[in-house]
Amino acid sequence: MSPKAHNHSNGAAQKGQQQKTRAKNLDKKWRAGVLGATGIVGQRLVRLLAEHPWFELNEVAASERSSGRSYAEAVHWHLESPIPEVARDLVVKGVEPALDCDFVFSALDSSVAGPVEEDFARAGYPVVSNSRNHRMGPDVPLLIPEVNAKHLDAIPVQRKNRGYDTGFIVTNPNCSTAGLVLVLKPLADAFGLERIFVVTLQAISGAGYPGVASMDIQGNVVPFISGEEEKMEAEPQKLLGKWDGSRFIEAGLGISAHCNRVPVLDGHLECVSIGLKKIASLEEVRQALRTFEVDGELAALPTALRHPVVVVDEENRPQPRRDVEAGEGMAAVVGRIRECPLHDVKLTLLSHNLVRGAAGAALLNAELLAARGFLKDRSSRSALELEVPVR
Ligand SMILES: NC(=O)c1ccc[n+]([C@@H]2O[C@H](COP(=O)([O-])OP(=O)(O)OC[C@H]3O[C@@H](n4cnc5c(N)ncnc54)[C@H](OP(=O)(O)O)[C@@H]3O)[C@@H](O)[C@H]2O)c1
Repeated sequence: MSPKAHNHSNGAAQKGQQQKTRAKNLDKKWRAGVLGATGIVGQRLVRLLAEHPWFELNEVAASERSSGRSYAEAVHWHLESPIPEVARDLVVKGVEPALDCDFVFSALDSSVAGPVEEDFARAGYPVVSNSRNHRMGPDVPLLIPEVNAKHLDAIPVQRKNRGYDTGFIVTNPNCSTAGLVLVLKPLADAFGLERIFVVTLQAISGAGYPGVASMDIQGNVVPFISGEEEKMEAEPQKLLGKWDGSRFIEAGLGISAHCNRVPVLDGHLECVSIGLKKIASLEEVRQALRTFEVDGELAALPTALRHPVVVVDEENRPQPRRDVEAGEGMAAVVGRIRECPLHDVKLTLLSHNLVRGAAGAALLNAELLAARGFLKDRSSRSALELEVPVR
């Protein structure tokens, strides 16, 4: 069986079992809204929510360009499967916090996400965000459940600091950071990390739609993605750091990132050199990655994989076209693990920027929030409470 086929069937089987187990235990679904539902990440969320065992899509919202139209009319649909029936006739609303749902995903453009997400949290909605605006907030969890689920302990402090009642903001990392940190986590646990040098080859879908002009990217590489290197150097420090009860303590790693846009549709490839604290053989490194396994709480989440890091042995893998769908887009695929003359070990990794790096990441975060009791039923709220609050 090819690694891809193996990864797909493995991921699908793992998830099928988890979904059956949880679906039996739930007597209601949480009602989700998607802010930025017409964008490239929002569409993935809409599709994933249409089949979700715990959540149902209840509201879609976007800019004035889209609001007031049906979702099917407003969206420029990019996915191969058709627009889900549940979404087609939903009327796209504006991004005011008066949506009839229990929580919202935010896939808003970062030019507007900051204040809009705060408005929703202040109005009592849990906000599960993809956008960069609040990621480095001193009381905002930047979450990868397999890496730092303990950071959710910051939510009560965030509520207290900001005067939020039932609302709060939780974020997922930048798309290239997500795959990198998932792979670094088992190495940090087993050997400790000192220095990371990473060069990315990032897909064009990472720039949203219409993204990079075709005349700039066709047959070309663009060695600059605005703000990306800064995010890749800052976010892992928080993700791999600790929440001490009142603040986040950074991991204190040396990280240098070079980010490039390449003419690939989906999937960010990253070439990484890693300096470890403890001496380890290549076999020990491979073993740490291969055996990385999540605990029972996480394994029970519908979008989680029991083994989120997949190691491939072929010398020319991973490749975006062949490996991007591993674990239904939720796995980080690692290959070419070898000695590094400058640091200790070097490897190549691949992750799906729109799934592990965006929509799937947000979904997994929301599942963990649901499992830990952070979502509340808002359906009993009065019409008065649903009115837009004054900022
Ligand atoms: N693409 C990725 O791989 C990726 C990965 C991780 C995180 N992210 C982050 O996720 C967010 C969405 O990214 P994307 O790639 O999906 O972008 P996108 O395709 O450009 O979609 C942006 C969405 O924001 C809405 N929007 C834009 N301006 C607005 C305004 N003034 N008021 C209300 N809504 C507005 C758009 O609505 P209209 O359709 O009505 O204009 C659309 O729904 C961004 O913050 C991005 O940085 C993206």
